[in-house]
Amino acid sequence: MSVEFELNGKTIAYDGPADTPLLWVIRDSAGLTGTKYGCGIAQCGACTVHLDGQARRSCVTPVSMVAGREITTIEGAASPAAKALQDAWVELDVPQCGFCQSGQLMSATALLEWIDNPSDEDIDGAMAGNICRCATYQRIRKAIKLAASRMGEKA
Ligand code: FES
Ligand code: FES
Repeated sequence: MSVEFELNGKTIAYDGPADTPLLWVIRDSAGLTGTKYGCGIAQCGACTVHLDGQARRSCVTPVSMVAGREITTIEGAASPAAKALQDAWVELDVPQCGFCQSGQLMSATALLEWIDNPSDEDIDGAMAGNICRCATYQRIRKAIKLAASRMGEKA
């Protein structure tokens, strides 16, 4: 089966089984390795990308589902919210080993694109599916709040 979709603004044509997980197409066919494999069963969030702007676990998304749609990975995350979060991540030195952080940033970006001043509950709800073995959760929360406040200043 041939599937065409937009990946970070470029058209990708994938020829292969329809049920191939999007994660492998992103990593192996497109060579974008920022999106990580953690569990393969939608339990850790390491593989989070955006599907038409919504956070989505690419490990359980068959490539056939994204035909004609837009996928954004960490390599292409460049919206104002994404940039504000990436700056805050650096400023607050959020990552430890870093393995989960692409997924964390993609979930946080989807949150800030939806809610510009998220409450603790909003953050908990949006980030609950992103596991960090290094327990960077407090820094992640602070960085989301810092990014939201910076975006509020610019609005
Ligand atoms: S690798 Fe997809 S949620 Fe864990
Ligand atoms: S920074 Fe190590 S798993 Fe999150």
